[in-house]
Amino acid sequence: MVRDRIRMPELMSKVMSAKEAATLIKDGMTIGISGFTRAGDAKAVPMALAERVKRSGESLHINLWTGASVAEEADRSLTEAGVIARRLPFQSEKSIRSAINRGEIMYVDQHLSTTVEMIREGQLGSLDVAIIEAVAITKDGGIVPSTSVGNSPTFVMMADKIIVELNLKQSIFLDGVHDIYIPEPRPHRNPVPVLCVEDRIGTSYIPTDPDKIIGIVITEREDHFAEIAQPDVETYEMAGHLLEFFDHEIHRGRMTQSLRPLQSGVGSVANAVLSGLKNSHFNNLEMYSEVLQDAVFELIDADKMRFASGCSITVSPRRAADIMAKLDRYRDKLILRPQEISNHPGLIRRLGIIAINTALEVDIYGNVNSTHVMGSQMMNGIGGSGDFARNAFLSIFITKSTAKNGLISSIVPMVSHVDHTEHDVEILVTEQGLADLRGLAPRERAKVIIDNCAHPAYRDQLREYFDEAAKLGGHTPHILARALSWHVRYQEQGSMLEQQEAARVAQV
Ligand code: COA
Repeated sequence: MVRDRIRMPELMSKVMSAKEAATLIKDGMTIGISGFTRAGDAKAVPMALAERVKRSGESLHINLWTGASVAEEADRSLTEAGVIARRLPFQSEKSIRSAINRGEIMYVDQHLSTTVEMIREGQLGSLDVAIIEAVAITKDGGIVPSTSVGNSPTFVMMADKIIVELNLKQSIFLDGVHDIYIPEPRPHRNPVPVLCVEDRIGTSYIPTDPDKIIGIVITEREDHFAEIAQPDVETYEMAGHLLEFFDHEIHRGRMTQSLRPLQSGVGSVANAVLSGLKNSHFNNLEMYSEVLQDAVFELIDADKMRFASGCSITVSPRRAADIMAKLDRYRDKLILRPQEISNHPGLIRRLGIIAINTALEVDIYGNVNSTHVMGSQMMNGIGGSGDFARNAFLSIFITKSTAKNGLISSIVPMVSHVDHTEHDVEILVTEQGLADLRGLAPRERAKVIIDNCAHPAYRDQLREYFDEAAKLGGHTPHILARALSWHVRYQEQGSMLEQQEAARVAQV
C-alpha cells in the first residue's frame, strides 16, 4: 500500500518515524504545516515535536505557519509544550487562544488570501521546513494533498526542506480532486483564468523538488473534525429570513433560481442555511467557498448543487466516514484549491459570490466585529471573511441578536473592534429579522438595523442612543463618551442592559 502511494521509488529511502522527523526541527525555525479548518493537517510530526520538547525539557521555539485552523492535536500539544513563539494566519483552539490572550504567543491574524503572497515576496522571512499531509507522491515527486490544500503549494515552493506525512487513512479517491495553481509573480501578473466555479487551471498535485524531501512519515491518524453545533430555533429563524430574502431578490429579477455561487463560513447557521436550500425550490446551485461542510454533500446528493469549489472538506465526525467512502461519486462535482485561489478577491468579484459570514457584534451603522470579545480577547481570527465580504456580489453577515443568555446585545452603539467596515456589509440577519442596508446612508442604516435586527430588550436603549447622538449632528452620529459604555457596563455589572430594563426583564 505504501509503495502504491509513493510512486517515485527513490523516495522510499526517506521513510522514517514521526519521532525521527521531529528531530529535524531546530530551535528558531519557521515551520509551515498543511491544514485548513482542521482538514488535511500535518498531525504526527507536530505531536512528536511537542512530545520531544516535553520529555527533554529543552528550550525550543518555532514560528508556526498554517493554512487556517488545524486540529486540536497540533495547536494544543505545541502550545502546551511551549513551542510556538509566533503563529499565523488563523487558529480556533482553546489552549492557543488563551496563550495568545495572555500575550505569550505572537499571533498574526491575516486575511487568508494574503499570507502566501507575502511569503513568496519574502515579506515574512524565510521558511525552513514544510510539513505536508499527502495521500500520495507522484512519479516525479509531486505531493498529492489530502482533505485540504490551504497554503501548502507555496510552503512546498518556498521551504528549504520538506517532510511529507503520507496518510494511509485518507481516501485515495482524493487524488484528482485538487487543482493546484500559483499565480505569476507581481507586478504585471496575468489574470487568474477561473471564469466558472468548475474551471481547472493547474495540476492535480503540488509540483515538488524531490531533493528537498528529507523525510516521509507514514501515518493513519484521521482528521479530527469537531461536531457542528446542532441548529436551534434561532438558527432556523435566521436561515428562514435569508431564504425569504433570496426569493425576494429572484422576484425583483436580481438573481435566478440558481442564485449566485455561495460562500459560507463554518458553523451551524451557515450549515442550516445550506440545508434549508435542500427543501427549497432553488436548484442548480454552485459553491465557491473555502470550506465544504456536510450540507454541501447533502445538496449534491439531493441533486440541488451542480458543483462545489473549496479549499477543504471539513465535515462532522458523524458524516465523515460516509462522505469519504462515497468520494469517488463526488469527484466530478468537486475541486479543492489553494486558499489564495478559493479566496481570491479578483475571482470573488468576477464570479459574483453571495458571501455569508458570522459576526460577534455589529454596530448600529453596520460595522462588524468578528474576532475580538470586548475589544481585546481574540476569539479565532478574521479568516477568509474579509476576502469575501469586501468583494462579494452580496455581503451578508449573520449573528444571534444577543449572547450570554441575553446579557450581551450583539447590536451595539459602536463595535469594540472592527474587522469589516460598514462599507463591506450589505445584509445583516439575526433571528429577529433582516436588514437590507444597500443604498442606505448611516442614519438610515441605524434605523433599519435597530428595528429589524436588535433584540426587543435592547431596542429602546439603542434608539435612545441614536436619537441623542443625532442631536449632536454628524454623518455617522456618535456620542464618544457613551459609544463603548455598553461594553464597560457588561464588564462592570455583568449585563449590557440599563438598570431599569434589567429590572423589568428580571420581573418578566
Ligand atoms: N460578545 C461576547 N461574546 C460573544 C458575542 C459577543 N457579542 N457573541 C458571541 N459570543 C460568544 C458566544 O457566547 C460563544 O461563546 P462560548 O464559546 O463561550 O459559548 C462564542 O462567542 C461563539 O459564538 P457562537 O454564537 O457560538 O458563534 P460561532 O461559533 O458561529 O462563532 C465567530 C462566531 C464570529 C466567532 C466565528 O464565526 C468566527 O470566528 N468568525 C471569523 C472567521 C470567519 O468568518 N470565518 C469564515 C470564513 S473562514
